[in-house]
Amino acid sequence: MKRVFSGIQPTGIPHLGNYLGAIESWVRLQDEYGSVLYSIVDLHSITVPQDPALLRQSTLDMTAALLACGINPEKSILFQQSQVSEHTQLSWILACMVRLPRLQHLHQWKAKTAKQNHEGTAGLLTYPVLQAADVLLYKSTHVPVGEDQVQHMELVRDLAQSFNKKYGEFFPVPESILTSMKKVKSLRDPSVKMSKSDPDKLATVRITDSPEVIVQKFRKAVTDFTSEVTYDPAGRGGVSNMVAIHAAVTGLSVEEVVRGSRGVDTARYKLVVADAVIEKFAPIKSEIERLQMDKEHLEKVLQVGSAKAKELAYPVCQEVKKLVGF
Ligand code: ADP
Ligand code: NA
Repeated sequence: MKRVFSGIQPTGIPHLGNYLGAIESWVRLQDEYGSVLYSIVDLHSITVPQDPALLRQSTLDMTAALLACGINPEKSILFQQSQVSEHTQLSWILACMVRLPRLQHLHQWKAKTAKQNHEGTAGLLTYPVLQAADVLLYKSTHVPVGEDQVQHMELVRDLAQSFNKKYGEFFPVPESILTSMKKVKSLRDPSVKMSKSDPDKLATVRITDSPEVIVQKFRKAVTDFTSEVTYDPAGRGGVSNMVAIHAAVTGLSVEEVVRGSRGVDTARYKLVVADAVIEKFAPIKSEIERLQMDKEHLEKVLQVGSAKAKELAYPVCQEVKKLVGF
């Protein structure tokens, strides 16, 4: 049986990159696969310092956003990772099967600790092992991931294979489904991706930003001094990012968008794209705001989803423990 698993950190309201690079394809996969699990991976969040009240709020905000974007709890299991204790149990077993240097050589560990004077926590180091446990716990076969996660997926596959070699065929070796073909760039510096942690507040568009704020951010977006709209990601990063966003939110092709923008200068074009973004997210924004008012409903959705996930995870974890000799 084919089964999809993916996780997203409870970072509150998603930005345009999260939506176009991940959430949009998660919604599509619900209809393409028979069994789909999406986890709000709060255990991963505490690998860097977190404020408890903020973490709780961000978990509910992310839940509201996923539901509003079209994640349907009737079609997929939407759940909170920390509520299924088997994740940490399997993670421990897998951590005992991976050598330290393998983790220390991963790009993300190096990049993240470079920012922290090379003093990341043990949790941050073993983050990819927990990811492997997330995926394998459900015997998942397909994992939608962004390009930045390809290396971690190699570890997941290696761990599945080592486990199978040592204890007998047990885990399917999961395949990646690359989702972020639509890489959204920072509005202020098209050489880097749009990110929630960008210190420049104008660089990142949240899907619940007000129309005024969206217009302001696009108005301040960095393009270049050529006034014509063309698509040339290497040569004209800023304008091409506008075109890519425009195409993605309207469902048109890049060629159609460029053709339709003939005679429009880039200053005006930025506002055209802002309008398209506002139009695309208006219904999602109001649905998020409606859901945010109903905290109990959001908590209930996570509870029910987590119970369903637990039902799948428990027997797998029991079998794993037996195989290991517990
Ligand atoms: P951030 O980079 O803002 O911290 P995350 O790492 O939490 O975002 O990413 C959550 C999901 O969104 C991942 O699947 C990731 O690949 C995707 N994603 C994040 N930023 C972008 C972007 N700028 N363009 C496309 N996809 C993105
Ligand atoms: Na990130």
